[in-house]
Amino acid sequence: MAMHVDRYERYWMWAATAMLVLFLAAIVITAVAGSAHPPSHVETIDPDRVTVEGEFTAPQPVTRPDGSVVVPIRAEMYVFRPEVIRVPAGTPVTFRVTSPDVLHGFQIVGTNVNITVAPGYVSEVTTTFRRPGDYLIVCNEYCGLAHHLMQGKVVVEEPR
Ligand code: CUA
Repeated sequence: MAMHVDRYERYWMWAATAMLVLFLAAIVITAVAGSAHPPSHVETIDPDRVTVEGEFTAPQPVTRPDGSVVVPIRAEMYVFRPEVIRVPAGTPVTFRVTSPDVLHGFQIVGTNVNITVAPGYVSEVTTTFRRPGDYLIVCNEYCGLAHHLMQGKVVVEEPR
């Protein structure tokens, strides 16, 4: 004997199944087409020494022999150093970000760069800017009273 399922209940079962398929598809599409993926870089650093020694004391972009660029960045209350970062378009750029104080976020608006910056760790992300222009950097982790003022800028220039 077939089980009786009310028509509306059947509709909602299909609707719930369709939503599951839709959400799973969204995850797969953003992972494959949008290069969204969980962070995989684990590197530790002494947060008390960040401002005293090493690449983060007076951070500046460095060009590697292969032409790619490495940008060390200090995210601290309430500024990103350097405040303006100049990089070429069409070149892989690796951002290495750490914090000497509290948890910050490092998001470059309009790109797939969005990482959490925790004191004691170096967060690393690599991206290639296709179009020249100004890109806004925002801190998206609440870090104190002036959190909303914490921002920076990436200036992507025409390749030399
Ligand atoms: Cu730094 Cu919010």
